[in-house]
Amino acid sequence: MAEKVRFEGRVAIVTGAGAGLGRAYALLLASRGASVVVNDLGGGRHGDGSSTKAADVVVDEIRRNGGKSVANYDSVVDGEKVVKTAIDAFGRVDIVINNAGILRDKSFMRLTDTDWDLVHSVHLKAAAKITQAAWPYFRKQNYGRVIMTSSNSGLYGNFGQANYSAAKMGLVGLANTLAIEGEKYNIHTNVIVPTAASRLTEDILPPDLFTALNPDLIAPVVAWLCHEDCPDNGSIIDAAAGWAGKSHLIRSSGAILRKNLNEMVTPEVVRESWEQITDMSEAKHFNSIGDVTGELVNALDQMREGVSKDAVYKCSYTNRDTILYALGVGATTKEPSDMRFLYENHEDFSVLPTYYVIYGPSGASVTNVFENIRPGIQVDPTRILHGEQYLEVFKRLPLEGKVESRFRVQDVMDKGKGAVALIEYETFNAETGEKLARSQMSAFIVGGGGFNGPRNSPHVIPTVDPPKRKPDISVLQKTNSDQAALYRLSGDINPLHIDSNIAALMGYSEPILHGLCSLGFSTRHVLHTYAGGNSDLFKAIKVRFAKPVYPGQTLRTDMWREGNRIHFQTTAVETSTPVITGAYIDLKQVQPPTVMRNLCSAKVNLESDAVFEQITDYVKSHQDEVKKINGVFVYIVTSKGEPTAQWTIDLKKGEVYRGEPKAKVDTTLTVDDKDMIQMALGKLNPQVAFMQGKLKIKGNIMLTQKLKTLLDANRPKL
Ligand code: NAI
Repeated sequence: MAEKVRFEGRVAIVTGAGAGLGRAYALLLASRGASVVVNDLGGGRHGDGSSTKAADVVVDEIRRNGGKSVANYDSVVDGEKVVKTAIDAFGRVDIVINNAGILRDKSFMRLTDTDWDLVHSVHLKAAAKITQAAWPYFRKQNYGRVIMTSSNSGLYGNFGQANYSAAKMGLVGLANTLAIEGEKYNIHTNVIVPTAASRLTEDILPPDLFTALNPDLIAPVVAWLCHEDCPDNGSIIDAAAGWAGKSHLIRSSGAILRKNLNEMVTPEVVRESWEQITDMSEAKHFNSIGDVTGELVNALDQMREGVSKDAVYKCSYTNRDTILYALGVGATTKEPSDMRFLYENHEDFSVLPTYYVIYGPSGASVTNVFENIRPGIQVDPTRILHGEQYLEVFKRLPLEGKVESRFRVQDVMDKGKGAVALIEYETFNAETGEKLARSQMSAFIVGGGGFNGPRNSPHVIPTVDPPKRKPDISVLQKTNSDQAALYRLSGDINPLHIDSNIAALMGYSEPILHGLCSLGFSTRHVLHTYAGGNSDLFKAIKVRFAKPVYPGQTLRTDMWREGNRIHFQTTAVETSTPVITGAYIDLKQVQPPTVMRNLCSAKVNLESDAVFEQITDYVKSHQDEVKKINGVFVYIVTSKGEPTAQWTIDLKKGEVYRGEPKAKVDTTLTVDDKDMIQMALGKLNPQVAFMQGKLKIKGNIMLTQKLKTLLDANRPKL
């Protein structure tokens, strides 16, 4: 069992410990090894009279139980005398529990100066005095624990307790600052908000509740809060009846009330923004004044950049959203490396980096921003086409949380009939303020041109054409006929992608797939092929959306590796139409290529492909001859040491195909792409290759002799 919470060697002062909560604290701390100064003036509930009896009774009880305790009969207002008692009796002080209290309840109208002053001095001033007297000892020993006692009357207000509420909330403010000042000396100050049956509450709480609220149920919470192992400092802990919780202040995310630093704020703008100012749905807690100032600086930055409040997009998401997105861009449980994007309990559960792009501006907000720039021009949100997209990721996207995207128009280009709005947006972690990503989109606004504007912009992040050679690797995947219906659930609900009437109005034969959906497919293909599926290796992507894709079409991502840049082009296979062009993904690091065998198909263009294609032709035209060999062979072709392609030569059935064998295999041969060519050209003798370890053979070796005829038969044509 874990160690008990003990206080050996610690000296605690508990004020007002002659009764109620203070008594319970003193008894518990003493029973756990602390030496306790029991302070109590022994006065009445309203601060009248005094007697030594209250403190003596508790000290006697502690001593009878074998504990160490002394009494102090001073009023807490004389804080230094209480601390002196601790030093005189035990030589130190480690814990101060400011608990003594009185009530002088009156409705505000009838409240006198005496009612105000007495309550304030016993609760607030006295707590400051005692703590201040103990502070030099705490600092010297680099240790101290302080408890302030607040009240729900302070946190929420209570009829007839204006003086008391103000003092109790004052204690929260006092604790907030002492927590900061004490931090580096290991002095922790926390606040307890108790609700207990005592003489203070006997006529306030309903009778049945009164009996359930035993102070002994709160004492353990306070004991832990002033233990050396409790990490909290500056916390407000609420406890009652065997329950405890924490409270703190929260603030709404508010509203920016002017579009730029030159504008003034008017009461009318405040009135218009009131709903947003007071909307607590996104409210958050701040840990320090520094954090509050940080927010203010952010707000000022936005005003400096002239970003209107319309251009801030906030959103929170959970793993349901990121999984839905992954499904939307073709992730499938059939592909093992996709599982990390689909299953929240997967050991590498992660978010596809292109998830960030969905936090871009919607058609409606593009319209809004565009209209701000070119007043008087009406833009139909359905007439906006996605032209290009760039995304650069700085931080791993949290698995869930709140993000905030701020976007601004960098330029509007005049392309004649249409206009192109270049929009930059940055995505932040709304909780920590950390910048997660930067994006740039270009939106083509049909009919928005002809305003004598510039044709180009220096801000455009350019697309890059792929190398001239054949692609290094291609991955094919068929989209689902409901792909757009699924993808739109991630946020882009433009009817063009689901409503055939709207699609027809815009000149399409049927609803088209979102460009960003195809972008997601290709990103997965590149990530799986060159980064082992690890989204942490993703750095940036740039694409141009060249032509629409119709749901149900097959996408082929052709890839060319150049260092850490993977150029790619995506083609709709059925119509041989390039749909994404000039595209690349920059990776932080490239992994040896892996082939996504379980998707529709993946094709690596190896030089030896030509050999197998010839063998395929030969087998087709020499069925009787090859069937005599009566064997099933599998070739695993490696490239740079990695298995890259697999061919099955099934001579029992007389067929050759790329991919996993469908029949029982007799012989498996593993050979490098280059060596395969050399063998086919007759420049490398298979037997020598075998001896040199260049050709590995498993299974029936004898059969390979017969296979040689096939290779020989194809040689002259190569
Ligand atoms: P209580 O009246 O049973 O105990 C308070 C003790 O403080 C009494 O023994 C009293 O003699 C002593 N005291 C009063 N003035 C003093 C002074 N000037 N110097 C030294 N001792 C003095 O009251 P209870 O309920 O145990 O309250 C303890 C603390 O908890 C108080 O600060 C009270 O405001 C606070 N509190 C209590 C709640 C409750 O539900 N009982 C609710 C919220 C706060």
